[in-house]
This record gives sequence, structure tokens and C-alpha cells, in this order.
Amino acid sequence: MVAHPAEATSRRRSPAGATMNGHEKSLCGGRITTFQTVPLRDDLVEGGLEMTTKMLIGTMFALILSSSGALAETRLSTTDLGQRIYQRNCLHCHGVRLDGKGPDAASLSVPPANFHTYLSRLKGDAELEKTIKQGKRFLGMHNWEDTLTDEQVHDLIAYIRSAAPPVKVTP
Ligand code: HEC
Repeated sequence: MVAHPAEATSRRRSPAGATMNGHEKSLCGGRITTFQTVPLRDDLVEGGLEMTTKMLIGTMFALILSSSGALAETRLSTTDLGQRIYQRNCLHCHGVRLDGKGPDAASLSVPPANFHTYLSRLKGDAELEKTIKQGKRFLGMHNWEDTLTDEQVHDLIAYIRSAAPPVKVTP
């Protein structure tokens, strides 16, 4: 059946499709049967606007989801963050196992500290923090004060302590 031009136009102008037909009947002089079903179409001009709104909402949801993903990343435990910082900055000297046997250790005249030694585990957090920040001059241990934030140094210590627990000395 070929649609009457007026009918076709009115259908095209109906963004809400079927639900609008009962109302259209009066506009079009009864050419469209009441409750006639017209498939809903989103690609019409008016529908296009609707689509844009849907896409905007979709984009907003995607943004919210992705930003919550970023939040999840910052919610890593300090130990995990410390491990990342360690892997990037310290591993090549102090080694994967924190035993001072990193790939660069051989090129140093003084071997990097092995954090598992009794002596190292006896040291308090404050002492480690001081060494990390100020370095050990002439020993190949840089000072990290300008490179790492206080928080990053604390994360590092948390990681070192989790792998090589401190020895508590009770008097
Ligand atoms: C270029 C090699 C090198 C790099 C990179 C390096 N260190 Fe060291 N580190 C050393 C050397 C050498 C020592 C001195 C060992 C000693 O005193 O016997 C040392 C000592 C230390 C000490 C003192 C340990 C103790 O028991 O007294 C700490 C803590 C330490 N490093 C942490 C770090 C951290 C954290 C990083 C990464 C941010 C790092 N180091 C990067 C070489 C390095």
C-alpha cells in the first residue's frame, strides 16, 4: 500500500511513534486508524535529537565509570603503591627480592643494602626515611627528597617492611 503523502508526513513527524497515532487521527482527518502501530524509529530528524540526548547520557555514564576506575586505582594499598615505586626506582640496585642483588649492583663499589639483613630490619622507619630522602653520599645511594613525595617515601617503607618485617627490640 502506498502511503498517502499527508499520512507519510505525519508519521515522519511523530517521534513517539505508535502512542501518538490516536492523537494524529484528529490532525489527519481520520486517515490513520486509531491504535495503528507504527514502528518506533530513532533515525528520524526529531528522533535524531533524542538519539543525541541518549548518547550524551551514555557518554556521561561512561565518564562516571571511567573516573570511578581511576578512583579504584588510587585506592590501592600503600604497599602496592610502594611496590610500584620500588620497581621503577630501586629494584635495579636493591633487587627484586630486596636482597641488594639488582642488575646494577655489580657496578657499585659498595653493594646496595639487603633489606632482609638483621641490621637493616633493626632500623626504625624514621631511619629508613632519612636514608631514602638524604641518600648515602659516596655509597651510590641517591637522595630521593626532590624526586619522591613524603607519601611516596612512606609507601616505599610500607612495601619494604611488608617484604622484610622489622625486628622489634624489647629492652
Ligand atoms: C644506584 C643504586 C641504588 C639505587 C637506585 C637505590 N639504592 Fe638504596 N642503597 C644503595 C646503596 C649502595 C646503599 C648503601 C648500602 C650500605 O650502606 O651498605 C643503599 C642504602 C639504602 C637504604 C639504607 C638501608 C639500610 O639498611 O641502612 C635504604 C633504606 C635504601 N637504600 C632505600 C632505597 C630506596 C627506597 C630506593 C628507591 C627509591 C633506593 N634505595 C635506590 C644503592 C641504591
